[in-house]
Amino acid sequence: MHVSFNLASDLEAALNAAAAAAGLEAGAFAPEVRTADPRHGDFQANGVLGYAKARKLNPRAVAEKLVAALPAGLLQAYSVAIAGPGFINFTLQPGTLLAWMRLYATREALASGAAAASPIRGQTWVVDYSSPNTAKQMHVGHLRSAVIGEAISRLAAFGGAKVIRDNHIGDWGTQFGKLIWAYKHELDTIGLARDPLEEFERLYKAGNNAAEADVTVMDAARAELVKLQGGDPENLAIWKKINDVSLAAFQQIYDQLGIRFDLTLGESFYNDKVDQIYRELAACGLAAESQGALVVFHADHPRFKDQPFIIRKSDGAANYASTDLATILYRRDMLKADVAVYVVDTRQRDHFDQLFMTVNKWFAATNRQPPRLDYVDFGTVLGESGKPLKTRSGENIKLKDLLTEAADRAYDLVTGKSPDFPEAERCAIAAVVGVGSVQYADLSQNRSSDYVFAWEKMISLEGNTAAYLLYAIARIHSIFRKNNLTPGAPGTELAAGAPETPAEIALARKLVKFADAQRLAIETLRPHFLGLYLYELAGEFSSFYNADKVNVDDAAVRARRLMLCARTLLVLETGLDLLGLRLLTRM
Ligand code: ARG
Repeated sequence: MHVSFNLASDLEAALNAAAAAAGLEAGAFAPEVRTADPRHGDFQANGVLGYAKARKLNPRAVAEKLVAALPAGLLQAYSVAIAGPGFINFTLQPGTLLAWMRLYATREALASGAAAASPIRGQTWVVDYSSPNTAKQMHVGHLRSAVIGEAISRLAAFGGAKVIRDNHIGDWGTQFGKLIWAYKHELDTIGLARDPLEEFERLYKAGNNAAEADVTVMDAARAELVKLQGGDPENLAIWKKINDVSLAAFQQIYDQLGIRFDLTLGESFYNDKVDQIYRELAACGLAAESQGALVVFHADHPRFKDQPFIIRKSDGAANYASTDLATILYRRDMLKADVAVYVVDTRQRDHFDQLFMTVNKWFAATNRQPPRLDYVDFGTVLGESGKPLKTRSGENIKLKDLLTEAADRAYDLVTGKSPDFPEAERCAIAAVVGVGSVQYADLSQNRSSDYVFAWEKMISLEGNTAAYLLYAIARIHSIFRKNNLTPGAPGTELAAGAPETPAEIALARKLVKFADAQRLAIETLRPHFLGLYLYELAGEFSSFYNADKVNVDDAAVRARRLMLCARTLLVLETGLDLLGLRLLTRM
């Protein structure tokens, strides 16, 4: 029996063919296949209703015609029922479940199955995420972009896209004027040697305060910026030092989060590429001078008809918008991007709306095909007070400290659970569980909303948490360890037949839904759909494990239960890895 990885999209194709064969109006019928409530089936086609209603036909009669035109193979793979006013319900036969589990038995098989049915296969995706500003430490506000961006990158690659991870760091802002001024006047060399990034942050504040208190400092800082932009060697050297130190500090965080960028092309990289932008946008009539600045208005937008998109400042300097315009051109022309994804917090919505509107008009005017541009926004991390998370004294929480605290707290959880594990192993597990808990707390929420950062809830073995899922993984590993078996070894599964008991069938039906979950997550660019699925899968596994003993004498029963254990493990591990978490085998 041929069984594709993505059963829902297969059904969709079969229903389209059946619609043509049954004489339904070509092009007017969409099957609308959805994952069904398991009480009714595995998949449900809802499309008949709308089609029949619009034509004043009896929906049940249309559904019957459609079902009669389905190919015989499909009717063997599913039991099919027409329900209610004209839904078509499809329930997988146990033999189909077995065939799916046999085919998708390794990570590679899952990945090639996912890519085969994927609309993004072969596309080039540039994912712009993390992208902090240099000269400052990463704080809790930088967590979400890094975590969500990494998950989206992995999901896109799994779906068959070529993914280029680009860290668009803010390394060329006006902050450097004040910073260089302070570096020259207030540098604490001991502080610099001890913790350079800390010292740069202090200098930045000092420069800011001094410039605010004294206009001559403000002017001097501006002059430093102009010198930097003009290529003054001394200022360039200071600037480079600040960026190098910042990037090294960022890298420590990325290592902990399992992030590796392909490119780190910051704003400075586009310095020599903005003149072309000014020229082209002016030439096609999009940009015009206004009070010395170059701006774009969008007459077709209620707000942006009056709210300018400033693409060159009145002092002639490039800004965030000019570099972002140049960046899109670079991504299209040099990186050959089909899709560019921007993982940036929701407060920058206006910027991205204006940017994308401008690019679409500019590219249309110059006969260029724009890449698909996706703004992946996200809400704020809140403290338990409901306000943005800060330290008690009101400072931003450094990401470095947050991840250290996560590992410390996870250490207590691990020690409580497995006090007999050697100390070093408990520390290693705690590092995985701690960081994973922080990542997962973020990824398990719909990214568009704010979320409350609550240690007790996120580092817990109960609920939709990383620790719960990692523990489920460790538990399945231990089943195989105790039996001296390797999960998924073909020899162990030779005698496995189709699932039989209600718990076996329920678990197998949940396993095949992995395809839906990963597809939904990448289609909507919302990783929480995958997280929720993994949580439900782990729950289904628990029910199965409580209901059905794995180590039984009957070889066939044992083999098929071990197969279910191995596939659950495979899907949980693949899924958590796609979300960017590190894994473990004992906990
Ligand atoms: N550096 C910016 C910030 O910290 C984020 C950059 C996002 N990426 C982009 N292409 N604009 O706000």
